[in-house]
Amino acid sequence: MSADIDLIYLDYAATTPPAQQVLQRMREVQANAWFNPSSNHLGGMTSAAVVRAAAEQLASLLNVGAESLIWTSGATEANNLAILGAAKQREHRGKHLVTMRTEHKAVVDVFRALEKLGFDVTWLEPDKHGHLSVERFSAALRDDTQLASIMHVNNETGAIQEIATLGSACRQRGIVFHVDGAQACGKMPLDLARLPIDLYSLTAHKFYGPKGVGALFVAEGTPLTPLMFGGGQQRRLRPGTLAVDLIAGLGEAAALAAASIERDLPHLSALKEQLFTGIKEIEGLHINGPEQGGYPGILNVGLDDVEGESLLLALEPLCVATGSACNSRNQEPSYVLRALGRSDFEAQSAIRFSFGRMTKPEDIDAAIALYRQGVEKLRGLAPAAAN
Ligand SMILES: Cc1ncc(COP(=O)(O)O)c(C=O)c1O
Repeated sequence: MSADIDLIYLDYAATTPPAQQVLQRMREVQANAWFNPSSNHLGGMTSAAVVRAAAEQLASLLNVGAESLIWTSGATEANNLAILGAAKQREHRGKHLVTMRTEHKAVVDVFRALEKLGFDVTWLEPDKHGHLSVERFSAALRDDTQLASIMHVNNETGAIQEIATLGSACRQRGIVFHVDGAQACGKMPLDLARLPIDLYSLTAHKFYGPKGVGALFVAEGTPLTPLMFGGGQQRRLRPGTLAVDLIAGLGEAAALAAASIERDLPHLSALKEQLFTGIKEIEGLHINGPEQGGYPGILNVGLDDVEGESLLLALEPLCVATGSACNSRNQEPSYVLRALGRSDFEAQSAIRFSFGRMTKPEDIDAAIALYRQGVEKLRGLAPAAAN
């Protein structure tokens, strides 16, 4: 995988390797359609056609109209545009917003910024498996609630939220419903035409596309206040010259996903089962997140007595995570696992394995062996064991 070291990459929730077809398509576009898609000449029209084709590919994956998609630099920007844009647009009607404690930082920090601007945010707690109860969610909605934002698949635990039911509760009350779909889009079947969702964020690099490009689905009749001002591109919602090659890569990744999801899911379930079977006998091992029914590409486990950061080093050349990639240089225990009721130490012992389309059973066998050895080694070093 890497030129010099044979990495065993089980960190697909952080990012996925770009598919060969995606790289090929981007190279073609870089060579032949590098024009500004807003230019009024033949070159510009060539690039504009590439962007339109990519929008059709993504729209078909989501089952929505291509005109409902806004290109962004990724899910962080899509979340910012959705949450800030909807909150500001509806501010005159009320300032109450609802979200969950276990959201990604790209949502949590946006709500924190809104709190500083005087918005009133309800932070909902999940149960010990990471799920949000529909009753708890509905009870939090008030007459002055303007926006609720709940993620689809949790990036640390793989917990899947009941977005259809939560969205219906919002629709009945005229509340805008946003979903951070960064860990679900392109990985699970998704039919946005049938879901009561107003805003859905996604990012290409989580489903075998390039980094630095994503999109926000904006359902018809969901006005947003733009965050940036500049050119008139993208209905004045997100100005700036479009990154035609990245967008083409995203489109290709979407087309590949549409053709692969049905095959990917049983492949991932088999890998998860293989991994869990190989490590479940280790004394004191527990699953962080749903024991059943979570996204099959993520398995997060912890131990009673082994520290995750030390374990991570002992696992090399295995690439796994102790938390979400954006927090992994932060020694704080994961706030997501703390919200599931784990102690600081338990949360700090967590290792997130995440795998994908290119993962082979041999990779999982190697991960099992490395994890078992790593735990044994660290337990052998522990003061209690030395006595
Ligand atoms: C759930 C979730 N939301 C948002 C993001 C941010 O996505 P991006 O890297 O495209 O900004 C990520 C990626 O780490 C994620 O897992």
